[in-house]
Amino acid sequence: AFISLRQLLDHAAERGYGVPAFNVNNLEQIQAIMEAAEATQSPVILQASAGARQYAGEAYLRHMVLAAVESHPQIPLVLHQDHGASPAVCLQAIQSGFTSVMMDGSLREDAKTPASYDYNVAVTADVCRIAHAVGVSVEGELGCLGSLESGQAGEEDGVGAEGTLSHDQLLTDPQEARDFVARTGVDALAIAIGTSHGAYKFSREPTGDILAIDRIAAIHAAVPDTHLVMHGSSSVPQEWLEIVRRYGGEIPETYGVPVEEIRRGIANGVRKINIDTDIRLAMTGAMRQFFAEKPADFDPRKALAAARRAARGICEARFEAFGCAGQA
Ligand code: G3H
Ligand code: 13P
Ligand code: NA
Ligand code: ZN
Repeated sequence: AFISLRQLLDHAAERGYGVPAFNVNNLEQIQAIMEAAEATQSPVILQASAGARQYAGEAYLRHMVLAAVESHPQIPLVLHQDHGASPAVCLQAIQSGFTSVMMDGSLREDAKTPASYDYNVAVTADVCRIAHAVGVSVEGELGCLGSLESGQAGEEDGVGAEGTLSHDQLLTDPQEARDFVARTGVDALAIAIGTSHGAYKFSREPTGDILAIDRIAAIHAAVPDTHLVMHGSSSVPQEWLEIVRRYGGEIPETYGVPVEEIRRGIANGVRKINIDTDIRLAMTGAMRQFFAEKPADFDPRKALAAARRAARGICEARFEAFGCAGQA
């Protein structure tokens, strides 16, 4: 059944667990997540970016998610708009049946230029007023996602600031978070702690100087009733990188956010953990392996089934690691 993000994360806060929010674009990703949720009895957050709605088409996406709810009636499910770039995008999502929207006012409407604090407050408060009137939850973002190593946003296409970000822009300030929450009324707050979108987050295993997990406790203390969200939280599994490379892929050395660090984040108040890249890497690795090992096969269902199995493995592991298993 559909529930709102606020309902799900209130439960998660009460019980001290975190919920992975997986990006979805197609049938096999949705099936993989739902199969993993069923197997582990976990509540689900499916999130769709603007790019996802463009890729799949708004009606296809909506009907596939309705099919997921119909096929798994006892699994609580949040359908969330990821990185809404404007109030208009959020309203379109609400009209389409989303139970939660992210108004990402950390960037201007082009999703590239860092926005002023006042702009962020204004657009986010606007969306909260409208969404809350119809029972839809709102996630805001304070601080720009980006690398403390390079000052770059990381993402080559999609959502991410252009140019170099200052140290201040790259870390969410607890006192500003308190003011932001008071002036907007957001249910959830995405924080900047050195993570970035995509596969190239860190050039080495992250340590405290480039991944500021220790800052989470102070932000949580400043906004105890608002649920904290970690974006850019793929772990970039080395075993999947090896498979991608073994079967012809070209991905240079890179590191993600270790699952153990995410668990520390959850212990300090993080409730929603955004993951897209890990599913992309696993599906690509599985498809490359399939085509390399079965060169005569041309039924796409077989390659896609291998990709779905790989994605499901990632999802089950995250549901278990974040304490989400058994909470459905
Ligand atoms: O925030 C970025 C997510 O990974 C979605 O990526 O915009 O390519 O769909 P996308
Ligand atoms: P990753 O690129 O680390 O999977 O992050 C996804 C994300 O934050 C979507 O909003
Ligand atoms: Na989001
Ligand atoms: Zn994100």
